[in-house]
Amino acid sequence: MSKFVIKGGKSLCGEVNISGAKNSAVAIIPATILANSFCILENIPNISDVHTMFQILKQMGATVEQLDATTYKIDATKITVTDVFFPQVGNMRASYYLLGALLGQKHTANVLMPGGCEFGERPINLHLKGFKALGAEYSVLGGLNASISVNAKRLVGSYIYMDVVSVGATMNIMLAAVKAEGTTVIENAAREPHVVDLANFLNMMGANIKGAGTSTVKITGVKELHGVTYSIIPDQIEAGTYMTAVAATHGKAVIKNIIPKHLEPISSKLVDMGIKVSVNYDEDSITVNAIEKFYACDVITAPHPGFPTDMQPQFVVLLAMAEGTGIIREQVWESRFQYVSELQKTGMDITIQSVKKKDDFLLIQGGKKLNGAEMTATDLRAGAAMIIAALCIDEESTISNIKFIERGYDDVIKKFRSLGADIQRIED
Ligand code: EPZ
Repeated sequence: MSKFVIKGGKSLCGEVNISGAKNSAVAIIPATILANSFCILENIPNISDVHTMFQILKQMGATVEQLDATTYKIDATKITVTDVFFPQVGNMRASYYLLGALLGQKHTANVLMPGGCEFGERPINLHLKGFKALGAEYSVLGGLNASISVNAKRLVGSYIYMDVVSVGATMNIMLAAVKAEGTTVIENAAREPHVVDLANFLNMMGANIKGAGTSTVKITGVKELHGVTYSIIPDQIEAGTYMTAVAATHGKAVIKNIIPKHLEPISSKLVDMGIKVSVNYDEDSITVNAIEKFYACDVITAPHPGFPTDMQPQFVVLLAMAEGTGIIREQVWESRFQYVSELQKTGMDITIQSVKKKDDFLLIQGGKKLNGAEMTATDLRAGAAMIIAALCIDEESTISNIKFIERGYDDVIKKFRSLGADIQRIED
């Protein structure tokens, strides 16, 4: 069992390069199933979720060739398998994109129930509502090999209202609708950067998607999609994680290879707390300077352009290092505070205030004396938060279950070391 050993207490300084976006890559890779020739994908992050998706595609009959550290050539035209029951499917939530891509291209799919981080209920009813609206029939089988199957004689465009803003459902319906007959409208669509990235990729392949990034996405079906060369966007959440780590340690550093617009929800919160953030538009970089005191604030997570839920655990640590009392409300997931007990081992004063289900919030009292601790990552963003916590403490801490962290953070040791962190990976 591997773990990280971290000796904190130093301000992070220097510069770090951001990799391609995990939540773009895990949707764009299966989207290559829709192409009538090969695709070349650039700026692909070296993370386990990406390698899992490549393994699944290869077992389905696709060829995947690595051209350099971040570039892959994928030919999914030879795929014959539409019953996707490989065990890796259960390792991540993004496996559900195989449903939309196979339905869109082959009009049939049978996929093992996706896995993913445990945040309470994680339904897929909106994905299925969209597929049904396009003319597909679906069935969900429970039990040991729980799975979802979708089939359609024809896929016909439709108006689909999303009761809840859902990133996965928005992207999955896009995948199923791009080659449907006629026009599909997704109302109350998710607006995350990776939703726009998928739409841009599909449009380069010949799709006709308008309005991605707004709440209303219009998809006019086309007959064929061709292979393209496409570079995915930098990772908004990876960038936000390093920004938060620099701030929490009262450091000053440059975060490079970013899209400033994608970071606005995070940057504006840091500025609210008295942390200096400056963007260099020429160099696509952002500088965080937190050498002065900074102050607590209130945070409410929300779909983009709101404050990202995937930055919630990291910001809890930042608030624990701030002057005053901060509040964090998690409005996207039913329960995403499982990691709090791990952070409390360091002496952080974090209490969960329960009002009613899905209305819990955290009260974080900053400025406490902290101690090193043995922590266990509960999911990838909580694991990242534990790294930040350990970096703030002038003692040794360890973090186990780092496989969660390596699902979504490329070269995490090297990147934190480039900011001066004392972090080791050891085999326990
Ligand atoms: C994506 O998950 C991300 N994962 C998550 O990031 C992220 O937390 C989430 O979007 C929100 O931004 C990937 O992109 C692989 P949702 P997803 O559908 O698509 C409810 C990370 O750390 N809902 O936007 O599963 C759902 O319960 C991961 O990178 C339904 O009710 O999230 C939740 O309350 C963790 N029915 C809300 O919508 C549905 O059919 C948002 O979920 C689907 C979702």
